[in-house]
Amino acid sequence: MTIRAFVFDAYGTLYDVQSVLERVERACPGRGALITQIWRLKQLEYTWLRTCMEDFANFAVVTRDSLVYALHVAGVEPAEALVTELEDAYLHLTPAPEAHDSLRALEGHTRAIFSNGSVAMLDALVLNTGLKGLLEHVVSVDSAKVFKPSPKAYALLEPVIGVPPNETMFVSSNGFDVAGAKRFGFQVAWVRRGGGPGTAPADAGPTDMFKAQRLHAEMLNAKPDHVLGSLTELVDLR
Ligand code: LAC
Repeated sequence: MTIRAFVFDAYGTLYDVQSVLERVERACPGRGALITQIWRLKQLEYTWLRTCMEDFANFAVVTRDSLVYALHVAGVEPAEALVTELEDAYLHLTPAPEAHDSLRALEGHTRAIFSNGSVAMLDALVLNTGLKGLLEHVVSVDSAKVFKPSPKAYALLEPVIGVPPNETMFVSSNGFDVAGAKRFGFQVAWVRRGGGPGTAPADAGPTDMFKAQRLHAEMLNAKPDHVLGSLTELVDLR
């Protein structure tokens, strides 16, 4: 099947969510790794819970709430100034090292982000990081009022990009997103970052635990069409 569009998940795929660690560690010395990992896991959990509860609040709200939760767990007072400083990190995430070049190499195809991020968060992020000019569309789940992996979210994409799911290569490093996109009918490439077997040592810290889990396919009855080590390999799928 011809591929006419490449659609990217944002957080974890085009952008390194772990890049907040430096700012978190600076603000909360000694607790950076713990807060960073709980923040991300809780952030995703809240997207799924709010979707199940039919109580949508956009990703900016979810990101702030999960940050406050993570600070409480780490025993850090979630003062307004601290929360505002750290949530701003999501507007300045570091792109994956190969993101710019890989998007450039796919020119001629429709290139889009499809993300849980709110419209405002995504617009700021692509502008701040120089990815804006390399994307034809930036699409948020906002107007569906549900988060991925709900099919109602993925259904937003085709009317905007004008390419049906079976001619779209959906690219994500997030296992739940890989499974959801595959079940919806996209062609799917899972970017399995880090490589290796993905086993965490018995005394794994928060960062090892997070990374090892991401190297394993989800047990959700939907397998990707391709497993990639990085975005650079996408050119071979054109
Ligand atoms: C996103 C989250 C799932 O960008 O990473 O949609």
